[in-house]
Amino acid sequence: MREKWTPAAWRAKPAKHIPEDYPDPAALERVEQTLRTYPPLVFAGEARSLKARLGEVSAGKAFLLQGGDCAESFKEFHPDNIRDTFRTLMAMAVVLTFAGSKPVVKVGRIAGQFGKPRSSPVETKDGVTLPSYRGDNINAMEFTAEARVPDPERLLKAYSQSASTLNLIRAFANGGYADLHNVHRWMTGFVEGSPQGKRYREIADRISEAIDFMEACGITPDSVPQMKQVDVYTSHEALLLGYEEALTRVDSTSGDWYDTSAHMLWIGDRTRQPDGAHIEFARGVKNPIGMKCGPTLEPDELIKLIDILNPDNEPGRLTLIARFGSDKVEAGLPKLARAVVKEGRNVVWSCDPMHGNTLSTATGYKTRPFDRILGEVRSFMEILPAEGAYPGGVHVEMTGQQVTECLGGAQALTEEDLSSRYHTHCDPRLNGAQALDLAFLIAEHLRGVRTNGKKAKAG
Ligand code: PEP
Ligand code: CO
Repeated sequence: MREKWTPAAWRAKPAKHIPEDYPDPAALERVEQTLRTYPPLVFAGEARSLKARLGEVSAGKAFLLQGGDCAESFKEFHPDNIRDTFRTLMAMAVVLTFAGSKPVVKVGRIAGQFGKPRSSPVETKDGVTLPSYRGDNINAMEFTAEARVPDPERLLKAYSQSASTLNLIRAFANGGYADLHNVHRWMTGFVEGSPQGKRYREIADRISEAIDFMEACGITPDSVPQMKQVDVYTSHEALLLGYEEALTRVDSTSGDWYDTSAHMLWIGDRTRQPDGAHIEFARGVKNPIGMKCGPTLEPDELIKLIDILNPDNEPGRLTLIARFGSDKVEAGLPKLARAVVKEGRNVVWSCDPMHGNTLSTATGYKTRPFDRILGEVRSFMEILPAEGAYPGGVHVEMTGQQVTECLGGAQALTEEDLSSRYHTHCDPRLNGAQALDLAFLIAEHLRGVRTNGKKAKAG
C-alpha cells in the first residue's frame, strides 16, 4: 500500500530539475499562495472527457496528435503565433483523420509549457559560466547573471499568459474558426505552395471529394455543429511542481484531485524516477498523464512506474511517449512494448520523434534532421504492431511560424538556412510546412498499411 496522497507530498521526495536557488524563498511561497487563490484554467470534467478519448486511443479506435512549442516564451507571446499553431494542428489533424479513418484527439503543448529540464545546470560562453536558462516561468534567456536569477513573479506572468492563450484557443475551437471548410482551405493552401505538392495532392483531393460528398448529402456546418467546432485540449510537462501544486484542486463533482493547470500533464524522461517527486505528484491527480520513455528505461522499471501511475489499469489514464531517436528505437522500444502487452496494461503509445534526434551543427545550432524525425515515426509504427500493440499517436515540437530550426522537409532547409529565422527558446521545432509534411508522410504510411491490410484480408 502506498501512503496517502496530498498535493504537497512530493515535497518530501527527491526532486530533479526544480530550482532551489530562489534568492527569497518567502517570496516564492507568497506567489504560490496567490496562485492558490486564482481560478482553475481547466475544468475537471474536461480532463475526464480527454481521458475517455484517450481510452479510445488505447483501444486502437482513435489517434492522438499532441504538438506545440518546446518552450513557450513571454517574447513570442502573440495572437498570430497562437493562431498559426492552432491552424497547423487542425490541418495536420484533418490529414491524419482521413488517412487513418479514425477520430484524432487534438492536444496542444500549449498554454502552460514553460519550464524546461536542462542537460546542464550551467552554461559557459567565452569563458563565462552562468546558471542555465530554465524556462520563462523561472528565469530569462539573456546571458547575464541578473537574467539567470530565478524570479517567482514570473510564475504569475506564466499563469496569465496561459489563461489568455487558452481563452483564444477556446474561442477558435468553438467560435467557427475551426470550421472544416477553413481547415480544408489551410490544408489545400499548404499543398499548393509545397515543393512536394504533387505527391500530397492525391490525399488532398480525396479529402476535398469527401467534403463535397458530405455537403451533397446535407452534412454541412449548419446542420452538424461538429463540423464547425473542435475539441482541443492543453498539456505541458509537470516540471515545476510548486506551480502545479498551487493549481491542484478538489473537483466538487467527483471529490477527486485535479491539476487544473492543463487537461493533460506529462512527466519528462529526466524526472520519471519511481521514488522521485514528479512521479509522486502525478500519481495523485486524476488528469490523463503522459510519461516520456527514453533509451535508459528498462521493462521492469516501466512496469513499476505503470503500477504507480495507473494502479487500476484505466484506459486513457496513461500515455507512454516513446522518445528514443531514430537510431535507438529498434533497440529500446520492442522490449518495453512486449512487457506492457504481456502484463496486459492499458496504455496509449505515442511517439515523440524530436527529443532523441537532436544534434549540433558546426556553427553551434541545435537542430533536428526531418528525415530522422520521420524515420523514428515510421519505426514506431512498424515496431508496435509487431509486438501486438497499437501505435496510437505522435508528440511533436512544432509551430505554425515559418521558422528555420529543423533541417530538411520538402523545403529542404540546409545548415546555412538555420540562422535566418531561428527563434526557439529551447529545442528546434518543425515549422508549419514541415509539420504538415510530417502529417502527409504519416498519412501515406497509414494508408499503405490500410490498403495492404485490406488486400491481405481479401487474399
Ligand atoms: C520535452 O518534451 O520538452 C522534453 C524535455 O522531453 P524529454 O523529457 O523527453 O527529454
Ligand atoms: Co524540447
